[in-house]
Amino acid sequence: MKTKTIGQQLGRSSWAEPWKIKMVEPIHMISRNERAVALEKAGYNTFLIRSEEVYIDLLTDSGTNAMSDRQWAGMMMGDEAYAGSRNFYHLEEAIQEYYGYKYVVPTHQGRGAENILSKIAIKTGQFVCGNMYFTTTRLHQELAGGIFTDVIIDEAHDAQKEHPFKGNVDLRKVQKLIDEHGAASIAYICLAATVNMAGGQPVSMQNARELHALCKKYDIRIFLDATRAVENAFFIQEREEGYADKTLAQILKEFCSYSDGATMSAKKDSLANIGGWLGLNDRGLYEEGCNLVVVYEGLQTYGGMAGRDMEVLSIGIKESVQDDYMRSRIGQVRYLGELLMDWGIPITRPIGGHAVFLDAQKFYPHIPQEQFPAQTLAADLYLESGVRSMERGIVSAGRKKETGENYHPSLELTRLTIPRRVYTQAHMDIVAESVKNLYDVRDQKKGLKMIFEPKYLRFFQARFERL
Ligand code: F0G
Repeated sequence: MKTKTIGQQLGRSSWAEPWKIKMVEPIHMISRNERAVALEKAGYNTFLIRSEEVYIDLLTDSGTNAMSDRQWAGMMMGDEAYAGSRNFYHLEEAIQEYYGYKYVVPTHQGRGAENILSKIAIKTGQFVCGNMYFTTTRLHQELAGGIFTDVIIDEAHDAQKEHPFKGNVDLRKVQKLIDEHGAASIAYICLAATVNMAGGQPVSMQNARELHALCKKYDIRIFLDATRAVENAFFIQEREEGYADKTLAQILKEFCSYSDGATMSAKKDSLANIGGWLGLNDRGLYEEGCNLVVVYEGLQTYGGMAGRDMEVLSIGIKESVQDDYMRSRIGQVRYLGELLMDWGIPITRPIGGHAVFLDAQKFYPHIPQEQFPAQTLAADLYLESGVRSMERGIVSAGRKKETGENYHPSLELTRLTIPRRVYTQAHMDIVAESVKNLYDVRDQKKGLKMIFEPKYLRFFQARFERL
C-alpha cells in the first residue's frame, strides 16, 4: 500500500476542497429536551426524525449532495418533453463515455434499476452472488426468486481487520458454488464497488479482472453496482500497483469493462439529488429492460426523472471523476475517521469511501446484538448532540427469506455518512467531539426493544422502545 498522504499527492499539506461556497442553508440545533421528545416520537429510529429536528445530518450520502453552479445552470436547460428529451441523450452520452456501457435505461433511483435487472436476469431458484449484500439490492433479487449468496472475502466481516481491498470477491467461494451446483445455477455476480455494508470498502482492479476471467470461462455475467464506483477508483489509484498515474476516469472505465452492465444509484457518486440508471452491453437484455421500464418507471427516455434531473446527472458524472474533487471528498471522510481513531473510538478499518462506521458492538460491549447496539448508538448520538446517523447492523440485515429468522451479521455498525460538498471541517470536528462525549458515558446506556417491524426493509420504518 502506498503511504503518501492525500495532501502529499496534491503537493500541499491538506486535502482542501477545489471549490468555494456560493449559497448557504441555515441549520440549527434544538434543545436536548426537544430532541428527547423528537426521538421518542420517532420510535428511536433516526429515519423517522424530521430533518428540521436534526443539527448535522449524517444519515446518508444518498441524494444529499450539494450541486455545483454548473449543475444549477443545467436545471434551467431541462427539456421536459415526455419523449426524446435532449437531456436523456446528454445523460446517455455521459454514461457511455465515462462508464462505457452501450445501452442505458434511465430509472428514478438505484432500486428502480435493481428491480428491472433482477426481473430480467434472474430465474426462480438461481443463486445471485454478491460481495456482501445491500438492503434494496438483495430484496429485489429475492423478490425475483433469486437466492442471495455472499462471496466477499472473510476479512470484510471483521471490522477491525486491515486490508487495502476489503470489498474483494473471494474467487474460491464462487468456484465452489460452480463446482457444487453448476454455472447455470448462478444468475449473475452482483459486484458492488466500494461495499457499503462492509464500511465503504473498495474492490481492487486485479480482483475485478480475475473475477471477469473466471466468469468468462463459465459464461456467467457480472453486473456492477456502480453507485460508488468513482470512490472505488480513488482507492485503486491510491493503493494498487500501476494505477498512481492513471486518472480516475481511466480507472473507472477499465473497472466497468470487467462487467456486463451496471445498476446505478446516481444520488451518490454523481452529485445529484435523485436519479439512477441501468447500463447494459447486451442488446437483447436492453430490450427486455425497455419493456419493463415503461411498466415501473416511465418512458425509456426519462425513467422517472425530469429532464432537468437528467441534465444535472450528466454534469455530475463529469464532476465526479475529477481527481482533486475526489481527493477532497475522501479526505474529509478520513479526517473525521482519524480524529475518532486518535481518541481510541472503535471504527471500521481501514476508513472507507463515503462514511465512518462506528463499531457499535465494541462501543457498547454491554449491549447484546438482540438489543440493537447500533440502533441504540444512532439514537443516543442524536439525543446527545443532534447529529443524525444510521444503523447498519442486525436491524438493516432483516430476516432470512426461507426461515424468517433474523440474520445475525458479524458487523454491527452505526454509519456517519458524509454528504458530498455539504459540510465543513468544523462540522466534522463537532461530530467527532459529539461521538467522544457519548463514548465517555457509554456504560450508562441501555439497549432497545423493537415494538414495530414492517415486512420489507424494516430499518426504514421499525419502531423501538428503551429497555
Ligand atoms: N446500492 C448501494 C450500494 C446503495 O448504497 C444504495 C442506496 C442502493 C444501491 C439503492 O439506491 O437508494 O437510489 O434506490 N443506499 C442509500 C444509503 C439508501 O443510505 O446507503 P437508491
